[in-house]
Amino acid sequence: MSAETQAEVQAALQADGITAGYGRDPVIRDVSVRAEAGTVVSVVGPNGSGKSTLLKALTGVLSASAGRVQVQGRDVTRLAPEEMARAGVGYVPQVDDVFAPLTVRENLEMGGYLLHRRELPPRIEHVLAVFPRLGTMLSRPAGKLSGGERKMLAMGRVLMLQPAVFLLDEPTANLAPAIAGTLLNDHVRQLAARGAAVLIVEQRARAVLAISDRTYVMGGGELRMQGTPAELSASPDFVASFLGGHRTVG
Ligand SMILES: Nc1ncnc2c1ncn2[C@@H]1O[C@H](COP(=O)(O)OP(=O)(O)O)[C@@H](O)[C@H]1O
Ligand SMILES: [Mg+2]
Repeated sequence: MSAETQAEVQAALQADGITAGYGRDPVIRDVSVRAEAGTVVSVVGPNGSGKSTLLKALTGVLSASAGRVQVQGRDVTRLAPEEMARAGVGYVPQVDDVFAPLTVRENLEMGGYLLHRRELPPRIEHVLAVFPRLGTMLSRPAGKLSGGERKMLAMGRVLMLQPAVFLLDEPTANLAPAIAGTLLNDHVRQLAARGAAVLIVEQRARAVLAISDRTYVMGGGELRMQGTPAELSASPDFVASFLGGHRTVG
């Protein structure tokens, strides 16, 4: 089988039956998600439904008590976070996503921690092609950036390693709606357009559906529904719970 054919068969990210939590009782149970290269797959659900826990279990921040995670066909279950990064998984957590005292350039260099020093400049150029705004503030401390700029830096930092899979935890939290829209429509979509698989957790269901190829719905630590934006927008339950009762997406 050629490399291309294998890539078509294997999802960039495939997680099956993930069960994980922080103590004895699991917080998420038997959750399976899949994301193909070049697509944006979203996870929506109410606060506390286990979305962040799912991402932590996928990245090795939290050890899953059951289930299997595969990246490009390779079993990466229970790898430590650094090995996950080497395997092609980039994770942008909801908080603590940049080093505030360091400059934008230093943050990007740290994001390239697995690279040889001479690989850094071309990778920084690559990141600036996706996030041109960062190019105007390379010597600014990350702590001085606006919320939207800071999130671009967090994503850019992860992009330094050109991961096959991006896991984004509520990148638009606390951003003004217009900035959130730009981040989703321009930047998140562009990561997928450049070939990555993007699994994004969002509270803004309507906005994220608009950029998603497929969406999973979590509730109470379990997967409740999944489908294309058009399918979910045709579900009265989904519309009532997540789209404010107005059928305007899809
Ligand atoms: N570090 C933690 N220790 C113990 N319980 C946690 C921790 N983080 C989250 N939880 C619990 O796990 C459940 C799911 O939380 P989380 O995955 O953060 O949900 P979401 O991201 O969907 O809002 C919640 O009941 C929350 O209180
Ligand atoms: Mg969360």
